[in-house]
Amino acid sequence: MQKITLDGLVAYLKEQGFVFQGSEIYGGLANAWDYGPLGVELKRNIKDAWWKKFVRENKYNVGLDSAILMNKEVWVASGHIGSFSDPLVDCKKCHSRYRADKLIEDFTHGQITGDGMSNDELTKFINDNKIVCPTCGALDYTSIRQFNLMFKTHMGVIEDAKTEVYLRPETAQGIFVNFKNVQRTTRRKLPFGVGQIGKSFRNEITPGNFIFRTREFEQMELEFFCKPGTEIDWFSYWRNYCMGFLKSIGVDGDKLRFRDHDKKELSFYSNATTDIEFEFPWGFGELWGIASRTNYDLNAHMTHSKESLEYLDPEDNTKYIPYVVEPSVGVERMLLSVLFSAYDEETDQNGQTRTVLRLHPALAPYKVAVLPLIKKNHAEKANEIFELYSSYFQTTYDETANIGKRYRREDAIGTPFCVTVDDNTLAEGTVTVRDRDTMEQISLKIEDVIPYVLGKLKF
Ligand code: GAP
Repeated sequence: MQKITLDGLVAYLKEQGFVFQGSEIYGGLANAWDYGPLGVELKRNIKDAWWKKFVRENKYNVGLDSAILMNKEVWVASGHIGSFSDPLVDCKKCHSRYRADKLIEDFTHGQITGDGMSNDELTKFINDNKIVCPTCGALDYTSIRQFNLMFKTHMGVIEDAKTEVYLRPETAQGIFVNFKNVQRTTRRKLPFGVGQIGKSFRNEITPGNFIFRTREFEQMELEFFCKPGTEIDWFSYWRNYCMGFLKSIGVDGDKLRFRDHDKKELSFYSNATTDIEFEFPWGFGELWGIASRTNYDLNAHMTHSKESLEYLDPEDNTKYIPYVVEPSVGVERMLLSVLFSAYDEETDQNGQTRTVLRLHPALAPYKVAVLPLIKKNHAEKANEIFELYSSYFQTTYDETANIGKRYRREDAIGTPFCVTVDDNTLAEGTVTVRDRDTMEQISLKIEDVIPYVLGKLKF
């Protein structure tokens, strides 16, 4: 059972300093969010965890950081200029605007997604099933038109067709166009993968559900290049790797499921695709897309740029265009699933409710809170200890309020360990370490806390 509603989580994250409405003092900007002191740490820890598992610790993979603005021809070749669009309909009565496929998805509670349906098929499904306007109840829509999701701007001072550039709608294309650079400079043989984390932008028709669907978001993408014929094995390798990763960082396994795309839903270039879905308060939603994309992308860039993106296989001296398996996930969606999994409320024997964010220590914004028991006696030593610990891991310091209140505050933001500095610290060099989840306390030497905490950061 979810312990908190979406509205409850939004209010809680604002109150604690995780996520604020973007441009708030000007009345906000719809669907734009800013990450506060705790949110930025949590987000960074999620990205670090992904980078560690997908780039640093995986012997096949390396990393990349490509530019957001790319030559327009990239988007012509990739098909984004021609067909990266959503089917848009307006209600003729109240003028509300919808994505036709989302109307179907919501109506069927996610059973039918509308992906892969033509405009005619979408229109027929809506009419046959009498899917009325969710705002006013009318069944009177305009015909469907395709709306391109890319944000367009101009490079330089002259605004004409020649200076048009786009904000990238995915990080993947930066990897494809660098395939040869990476392969040549790393002298990699297939299979190998290239991972990238970065901002993407989509002019979504129906953004919403807080940070689930936004117009500016971050993606963590891996393009895994392999020999044709081996891609389905690699697809299942990455499918399991992604699921294992989510569970290892504390995403609730009972709320996760695979949704394999059937033939009708598969993109024309894909021979296998699955979504890892998470059960959000509004139902299951896509968290991670994993697609076997054949050689579609490299082939498209090779044809359009006229640069060879073929690979000469040293094993058998054959030349071919590598196949690609792509696991692609949004940072914000991972953050939401982590938060819904971690949020907990429990009542103690005195009837007091404690809010605990049971984050994996590796993801927690702060690993340790250093708390002097009595400010005037213990603050000086506690400050020394803060300086020591903060060079090893994210540490916070709090000398306000009574110790019980400070523990509760740290529980609510997910700090796994509170280190209390008291008379024993001054006399014997020991501190009390309190565990967020069990609330048990142990005594450790000041310096022994460092390996103790570092040992808990593994996942
Ligand atoms: N390169 C493939 C690609 O971009 P996608 O399914 O369009 O595939 C991959 O996006 C992931 O990016 C999604 O599973 C989701 O986690 C995230 N994502 C996509 N659009 C998003 C949006 N508007 N807001 C937040 N996250 C989004």
